Amino acid sequence: MNPPGSSTMKAVVLERFGPPRQVLQLEDVPLPEPAPGQVRVRVRATAINDWDWTFARGRPMAYRPFLGWSRPRVSILGAELAGDVDALGDGTGGLALGDAVYGDVSECGFGGFAEYACVPAAALTPIPSGMSYLEAASIPHAATLAMQGLLDEGGMQAGERVLINGAGGGVGVFAIQLARDCGVAEVTGVDSRRKLGQLRELGYDHAVAYETTDFTRTGERYDLILDTKTNRPPRAYRRALTPAGRYVTVGGSTARLLQVAAAGRWLARFGRRRMSVVALRTNHELGRIDALYQRRGLTFRLDGPHALESVPERVEYFGGALHGGKVVIDVAAGAARR
Ligand SMILES: NC(=O)c1ccc[n+]([C@@H]2O[C@H](COP(=O)([O-])OP(=O)(O)OC[C@H]3O[C@@H](n4cnc5c(N)ncnc54)[C@H](OP(=O)(O)O)[C@@H]3O)[C@@H](O)[C@H]2O)c1
Repeated sequence: MNPPGSSTMKAVVLERFGPPRQVLQLEDVPLPEPAPGQVRVRVRATAINDWDWTFARGRPMAYRPFLGWSRPRVSILGAELAGDVDALGDGTGGLALGDAVYGDVSECGFGGFAEYACVPAAALTPIPSGMSYLEAASIPHAATLAMQGLLDEGGMQAGERVLINGAGGGVGVFAIQLARDCGVAEVTGVDSRRKLGQLRELGYDHAVAYETTDFTRTGERYDLILDTKTNRPPRAYRRALTPAGRYVTVGGSTARLLQVAAAGRWLARFGRRRMSVVALRTNHELGRIDALYQRRGLTFRLDGPHALESVPERVEYFGGALHGGKVVIDVAAGAARR
C-alpha cells in the first residue's frame, strides 16, 4: 500500500495478452487525476469477472476488435469496484468526498485492480448502509444480469414456476433472492453436483445436477427459465416451457445465443412462448438491489477476500472454474466492514 499523499499507487497492470499469471504484474503507477464528470475512488474492494479472464488472454479472437488487436486496449483490469470518493472532478454534483460507492466500470475503462480509479460519477451508486465493501463489489455485474433477466426481460410474476440454470454462480445467488422476493411458487436450481447442498441453503426448492439430469427432458414445465450457460438448441428450452413460458439467457456459447435470439424473433410472431438474450445495461437501477437489501437483507457467496497481489493467480483460478462464489479482492484494509 502506497502512503496517503503519494503520487503513485499500486496496480495490477496488463501489458500483453497471455496466461494471466505471466501477463498481470503488480506495479507502482502514477496516481490518476479525475477528468470533468469523473471522481477518483479509493478502491477498497474489487471482484474478478469473466471480462478479466477474457481480456488477459485476448481470447476468444472474435473479441479482439474490442479487446485490442496486438496489445490490450485496457492496462488496468477490474470491472467491479467498491470504495470511497477521494477526489472530485468538475461537474460531479451529487457525490461528496468520503461517499462510499460501488459500480460496474467495464464500460468506462475498467480499473478496479488498483488502489485508486477515476470513474464517471454516473457509473457509481451509494453503498447501502451496513453493507461491506467486499459485498458491494460482488454485486454490480451479477445482480444486474439477474434483475434484467428475471424482471425486465422475463417479467417474473408471483405464483410462477421458475428454473435457474447455473444456479450456484454469481447470477444465480441473486436470482433466487429476487425470485423469493417476488413471491414465485417454486424455484428449481441447476448446477454441478458439488453445489447441490449450497443451492438448498440458498433457498432453491429443487436442486438438479447438470451432470446427471437434462432439465429439458424431465417432463417438467416452467413459466420462466433464466440461463447463464446456454449450450442447447432453442427447441430443447422451448420443450421445458409452459404454453406462455419465457426463456431468457444472459450467457453461454456464442453460437447458441445467436440461435436463441433468432428463435425469439420467430416465436414472437407465432405463439405465446418467448425467448430472449439479455444485453447487459451496466449499473441500470442498482437502487432496486439497495431496496431488496433494506427490505429482506441479502445473502452473499464470496470466495475470499484475496489480496491485490494475488489477482494474477486468482484470475487463473476463476478461469479454471475453481471458485466457490464471487472472487473478491481486499484492496485496502477494512474492506470487510463499513
Ligand atoms: N448478457 C450480457 O450482456 C453479459 C454480460 C456479462 C456477462 N455475461 C455472461 O453472464 C454469465 C454470468 O453468469 P455467472 O456470473 O452466474 O457465472 P458463474 O459465476 O461462472 O456461474 C456459472 C455457474 O454455472 C455452473 N455451470 C457450469 N456448466 C454448467 C452447465 N452445463 N449447466 C448448468 N450449470 C453449469 C457453474 O458451475 P461449475 O463451475 O461448478 O460447473 C457455475 O456455478 C456468463 O455466461 C457471462 O459470460 C453476459
